[in-house]
Formats: sequence, structure tokens, C-alpha cells
Amino acid sequence: METKKEYKLQTVKMLLICIACILINMGGVRLMGALGWPLYMDSVGTVIAAAMSGYLPGVIVGLFTNLIKGISDTESLYYVVINALIALITYWYTKKEYIKKPLGILALIFSLAAVGWIYWILIGIVMNDPLTGAGVMEGLVTELADKGITVLIVLCLLFLLPVRFRQFMEFRGWQQKPLTDEQNRVVKKGMNRKMSLRTKIMLLLIAVFVVMGFASLMISAYLHRNYTRSEKTEFAEGISRMASTLVDPEMVDRYLEEGESAPGYLETKQHLINLKESNPVIIFIYVYKPEQDGFHVVFDVDSGDIPGDPPGFVTMISHDYDHCKAELLAGEPIDPVETNDEYGRLITTFTQIKNSEGVTVCYACADISLDAIYENETDFLTKLILLFVGFFILSMAVALWISDYNIILPINSMAISASKFAYDDEDALEDNVERIRELDIHTGDEIENMYQALSKTTEDSEHYVSALKHKTETISLMQNALIMVLADMVESRDESTGDHVRKTAAYTRIIMEHLKKLGYYTDQLTDEFMYDVENSAPLHDIGKIAVSDVILNKPGKLTDEEFEKMKTHTTAGAEILDQVISTIPDSAYLKEAKNLAEYHHEKWNGKGYPHGLAGEDIPLSARIMAVADVFDALVSERCYKKAFKFEDAIEIIRKDSGTHFDPKVAEAFLSAEDEVRQVAEHFTVYKVTKGQTETLRKRS
Ligand code: C2E
Ligand code: SIN
Ligand code: SIN
Ligand code: FE
Repeated sequence: METKKEYKLQTVKMLLICIACILINMGGVRLMGALGWPLYMDSVGTVIAAAMSGYLPGVIVGLFTNLIKGISDTESLYYVVINALIALITYWYTKKEYIKKPLGILALIFSLAAVGWIYWILIGIVMNDPLTGAGVMEGLVTELADKGITVLIVLCLLFLLPVRFRQFMEFRGWQQKPLTDEQNRVVKKGMNRKMSLRTKIMLLLIAVFVVMGFASLMISAYLHRNYTRSEKTEFAEGISRMASTLVDPEMVDRYLEEGESAPGYLETKQHLINLKESNPVIIFIYVYKPEQDGFHVVFDVDSGDIPGDPPGFVTMISHDYDHCKAELLAGEPIDPVETNDEYGRLITTFTQIKNSEGVTVCYACADISLDAIYENETDFLTKLILLFVGFFILSMAVALWISDYNIILPINSMAISASKFAYDDEDALEDNVERIRELDIHTGDEIENMYQALSKTTEDSEHYVSALKHKTETISLMQNALIMVLADMVESRDESTGDHVRKTAAYTRIIMEHLKKLGYYTDQLTDEFMYDVENSAPLHDIGKIAVSDVILNKPGKLTDEEFEKMKTHTTAGAEILDQVISTIPDSAYLKEAKNLAEYHHEKWNGKGYPHGLAGEDIPLSARIMAVADVFDALVSERCYKKAFKFEDAIEIIRKDSGTHFDPKVAEAFLSAEDEVRQVAEHFTVYKVTKGQTETLRKRS
């Protein structure tokens, strides 16, 4: 809610800033006018708005300054685009922080001056009135002086004004908790697949503007031409009407017969000449009497280099008059006629001159040039296009601004926050919720709905995921407990002590940690592998379930036949674990248990069973298990043997390294003698259980 209110305040604030800056622009112009200095000073406010408040206020100030001035002085419409460009350039230099360095300031001044200067040269070319020679240099110098002073004034303001004021001037359209500059950069870049929403909006706008611009330009040009034409035609009609009043209808026949010597002829002609000279828009004024053989000249005023025809002269009636020839000969009213001959494109207006009986004796005519109208059009269209481009820039700025703060930034910040979601632990889950909540998006539209939905989903998922985590942990603990029970059952059948399986598990962990310390097999010794081996170790002899009690608990030495049976506990264990893996879901970690069961009696020299594998063909987990298993068998009392002393057992491992055992694994084991002794002599069930619980925590 806070954000919404703030946004409304921001909008009012921006309006005030814009008005103030427009007034500064106007004031600058007035001041220069009063001082009589040859500077424009019409963009101080524009530069202030762009540098302090952003590209949108800058463009608005630039555009509206000239629109307002344009009401009284249409020439200032030419400045509409230049001032919008000044705003964009200033904004860009400010955003890139170039205006904090002397070189950057110089570059800004030159850029602004160059834009103005090039702009004027281009306009000159379009308007067929290009700047030449000294004018070009003078234009550049004026621009440089103007923009230099403008930029320096604004910079002084920037550095002199208190920070609080500058912060007040900053206008941003946030509809959410404002992002930091760094976040802003990341969020604006987005994570677009092909084309950003921003680019699409811009392309759409450009397309609309080009189509609309072209259409309205055509319509405006057409309307302008028609309007000017009918206005000029009306004017010509007025002139021909006035001319008609100057000619005495009763004298026309004598004028035709006697020419200049007819009484009053020259006097009337002088009146017609005066009429033409006081209306320079009129090209020709003449009085014609239409007859079958052509127009008979009554009067024809000279026009510049073209002398008028003498009275009585007959000029052909051109085909331009075909449509109204009958009316001309009958002396009826004639609409203006458009002609195109050696005198260019003309419109001729006809006014009947009637005698006292109301019969038309001849026509007074006035011609205006259409070509002059068309020349005038360039100026009109140039202003129109510039106005259009100005509004185009404004619309783009407004659209970008609104789409940035209402669509793109909220969506991108949601997307980026969501992509950073982690589910590692409860803290991470809370971070997810916090990250989304912090955005505080209040666009008041579909995007806010989406944001609310995302917030809710995140909060819900926090609850679900943490509940799920507890369940998974419980299941994991149960699974481990089950494995222990299973292993205990096997062990209790051959009457070994229940600690056996737990001790061998501890030995495997010690061996693996020391292998890592020594730098052996580090690629294979991942956390996951070590966890799997340690937890699978208790199951390595599970195949003994398939061996009969008689053999298993035989107090003395086994016969060859009995030992063959005993050997099957490896393959039998592998089969059992295969079945377990295929029935229990998520039991991938039992893969190592299967390797342990099947290969823990293989020997490094290939003389072990059941397959007689040698060296590194034996899985690493089984090579580790072999050392742990034999050592534990040696120091334990069995129904068929007495326990060896610790040192003797160690000695046997050392002796069999390289034949029975992988020398690296044996080395790791022997290097950990102290830890091994600890486990062998002081190990208790309590410690193992705790150790495993810790391992579990670490992994999930
Ligand atoms: P276990 O008792 O757990 O012994 C595992 C391994 O420890 C044996 O694998 C062997 O490599 C080593 N080991 C055990 N006792 C000694 C020993 O006194 N000296 C030496 N150098 N190594 C020893 P192995 O031999 O393949 O035996 C596999 C399993 O077969 C044994 O597991 C045990 O359950 C059974 N077994 C082996 N020999 C006899 C026996 O003479 N009588 C009976 N009842 N069972 C036996
Ligand atoms: C621009 O329109 O000049 C750029 C807009 C932005 O980067 O925010
Ligand atoms: C128009 O409406 O396009 C014509 C206006 C004008 O001639 O100034
Ligand atoms: Fe075994």
C-alpha cells in the first residue's frame, strides 16, 4: 500500500518538476531576448530535467517547451525534435556517469552542439535554403557557446544543490520496492530467450508510428493542398470580380475594334495594372471575349517579362476549356479552370461582365500559380514531420517508462528471484519467501495478481518442502535401522559379536578418509560414494543367510566341500541385494552394498573368489571392504579361531598388502593405526549410531 501512495506522489512531483523546467527554458529565451545576446538558452530546463529526473521528464520538458512556444511562433516547432534529442543525449551521458569527468562533460557539450548543428544543416537542405560558408561555422560556434553555457549552468546547480534536493528531483516510477543499481542492471538484462518484451513493445510502437505517420502525413498534405488551393482560388475570384467592375461593358466592342485609341481604354488598363500590382499572388489579369474562333483579347496586363497581347488579338481556346466551351460561348457563369501550359500550372477564375440588358459581353479573368502553392507545402510538411517525430520520441519515452516500471522490471525481478530459489534447508526456504516478499510489487493489474500468486506459492512450498524433508529424513533413518537389524540377524547366526558389522563400517570410513588424505582415488571418493560404502558395509556378508548353520557355526576347520558352500555367500548376497534394489524405491545407495557383497573376497593378485578378479578390476568399495573385513575377523574371536592380538593383526594386513589387498588401501589403513585401535578397543554402539545420523544430515 505504501508503494501505491508513493507512486501517486511521485507523479505529482514529476509534473511539478516538468512545469518548473519548462518555465526555466522559457525564462532563458526571454533573458537572451532582453540582453540581446546571440544565444538560444532554450534548453537549460531540458538538461536539468534529463540529468536529474530521467529521460521521460527530459523529453516532456523539451517537447512541451517548444509546443507552447509554437502556439505564438510556429517557427519553434522546428525545435521540438532537437530538444527531445537533447534530453535523450543528456540522460544517456548522466546514466553512464560521464558527466562526473571533465572529458565526459566536454563530450556532452560537443554532442549537444553537434546534434543541433547537423540538425540545422539538414533542415536547411530540406527547406532548400542551406547554410553556406561562414554561416556554417557561425552556426557551430553559436551552438557550442549555447550548449557549453547550458551544461555548465546545470552542472553548477548539480554540485551546489544539497543532496536532499537532488534526491527530491529524482523521479522513478517504481511500482515495487526500488531495486538497487546493481539489481536494476541484472533485472533489465533479464533472461530472455529470443527477444525482450521491451524490444517487442518498442518495435510495435515504431510500426504503429510509421504506418500512422505515413497515413496522417498523406492526409494532412492532401487537406493542406486543398485548403490552400481553395483559399487562393477564392482570392483570385475576388480579384477577377474586382477587375470586372473596372471594365465598361458598353465599350467592349469599341475596345476590340479600335484598341488603345478607344476612349477610356488606357485609363481602364491602368486600373487593371494597379489591381495586379497590389496583389502579387495574381500572375495574370486579362479580359477575354470568347468567340467560335478563339478568345478575343479586350485587355491583357503585362506580367513581368511576359507582355500582354494587344486588344483585338485572337488566342486559341485550348483543350483545357473543352468541358466548358459551350458555356463560355453562351456567356454563362464558369467555375475556375485549371490549365497546364508554357506558363506552368495555373488556376483561372472567370467573372462575367454583363451589359445593361444582362447579356454577358466578356469575362474578366485572374490567374494564380499552383506551383507556388506546392512550394509552400514543403515548409508545412517539414513542420508536421518534426512535430510527429517529437511526439514519437515522447510516446516511446512514455511507453518505455511505463512498460519498464509496470511490466518489465516487476516480471524480471520476479523471474530472477524465483530462479535463485534454493531448497537446501529451512533457512534457504525462508530466504525464498523473503526474497519474493521483499519485491513488494503493486502495479494494481494482472502482474500484481501474478506476484500475489507467486508469493502464496512460495510460502506454501516452504511448508510443503520442509514437511517433506522431515519425512524423508525419517524414512532414511528407518531404512538404516532396518539394514542394521538385517545385518545383526546374519551376524547372530554365526555367533559373532553384534559389534562386528558396525566396526567394519567404521573401518571403511577411516580407510576412505585416509585414502583421500593420501591423494589416492580422489575422483571416486565423492561424499556420496563414501556415504554409500559406509552404510552398505554392514550388509557385505548378508549372503551367509543362504549358508547352513552347521557349516557356519562349525567349531573347527572347514572341509573343501564345506568351504565351497561357504564361498557362495558372496554371489548369494549379490542376488539378495539385487532383489532389494528392484523392490525398494530410492535404494540406489545399495548399489555399493551389492558390490561389497559380491567382491569382498576377491584378492588383489586374482586368487580370491567368486570370480577371481584382480587389481583395479575389483570395485574400489570391495577392495576397501576386504581390508576392513579381514582385520575385524582377525581381532575377533570366531567359533573356529581365537582372536589375534592387535599388533599381530596389523602385521598380517601389512604382510598381505599387494597380494591379498590393494596396496594403496592397505597403506591408508595402516597410516590410520591410532584411529583403528580406538574403534577396535573402545567402540560402542552409541557412537556408531550418532556418527551415522550426522552423516545423514550432511547429505540431505
Ligand atoms: P570371517 O570369519 O568373517 O572371516 C573373513 C575373512 O577373514 C576370511 O575369509 C579370511 O580371509 C580372514 N581370516 C579369518 N580368520 C583368519 C585367520 O585366522 N588367519 C588369516 N590369515 N585370515 C583369516 P575366508 O577365509 O574366505 O572365509 C570366509 C568366511 O568363511 C569366514 O568369515 C568364516 O565365516 C568362514 N570360515 C572360514 N574358515 C573357516 C573355518 O575353518 N571354520 C569355520 N567354521 N568357518 C570358516
Ligand atoms: C532510453 O530510452 O534512452 C533508455 C532507457 C533506459 O535505459 O532506461
Ligand atoms: C490541415 O488541416 O491539414 C490544413 C491546415 C493548414 O493549412 O494549416
Ligand atoms: Fe565374507
